[in-house]
Amino acid sequence: MDNRDNPSPFTWPGGKYNLRKHILPHIQGSLMSPFLGGGAIELLHAQAGCDVVGFDVDECLIRSWTELLADAKGFVEQVRSYIPISRSIYKQLFDRMPYISGPEHWIVNRYCFSGLMGHSGGTSKGGSYLDSKLRKLETFESSIRVGLGSFEDTIPAYPDHFLYVDPPYVDQGFYRHHIIDHTLLRDLLREREGWLLSYADHPLVRSLYAGCHIEALTARHFRADRGRSPRVELLIRP
Ligand SMILES: C[S@@+](CC[C@H](N)C(=O)[O-])C[C@H]1O[C@@H](n2cnc3c(N)ncnc32)[C@H](O)[C@@H]1O
Repeated sequence: MDNRDNPSPFTWPGGKYNLRKHILPHIQGSLMSPFLGGGAIELLHAQAGCDVVGFDVDECLIRSWTELLADAKGFVEQVRSYIPISRSIYKQLFDRMPYISGPEHWIVNRYCFSGLMGHSGGTSKGGSYLDSKLRKLETFESSIRVGLGSFEDTIPAYPDHFLYVDPPYVDQGFYRHHIIDHTLLRDLLREREGWLLSYADHPLVRSLYAGCHIEALTARHFRADRGRSPRVELLIRP
């Protein structure tokens, strides 16, 4: 599988691009995504001509999405104004979070290992690597709509949309916002029919969704993870 075709403008931990062949066939019609993150699945569904709306509670991320969707060229111009991006510029931007602009957030996101902001202090990748990323970003466009919001408000606001739900995993602290009420999420989904949920395997998840259809995807399903410790990702539907 080739990550170069990943349409997401962000490097987001837990990104589901590598699972697209397993996820996309389940998604039908208008889509609402309450945990947008890097949004690769959502962008691919929008490319197929479908209505897609996505939300996330991370205000820096949503600011970045909003500003990029409104004016990709202007967004990239602002990123370029920081080049060469030194470690100290990176640190200044990181320390100002969440009070940074969309392009500044993109820099913080793309300049740290695997999108785990602040965990590595930034990669030294620049030059042609950055140039090719920016050339791609300059032409970014999508019909996807995005907004800031938490799942307990956004899910009920879209009663007729199919839901693709990719919450923070149980017991993993990857994100700026990573603690959610997993039982409340189950209760909201229990009231509806059209949804697909992806989760890292965990006993709590298996017990919350006992009675639902649970498909376990192992490392052989996402070859990009070869060499890392085996993990199991669950795809859950009613
Ligand atoms: C597993 S990630 C989503 C990854 C995404 N599907 C992708 O492919 O990049 C989970 C996301 O949930 C967001 N999040 C955390 N708490 C939330 C909440 N209460 N409501 C909405 N989003 C939340 C995090 O900011 C994070 O972006």
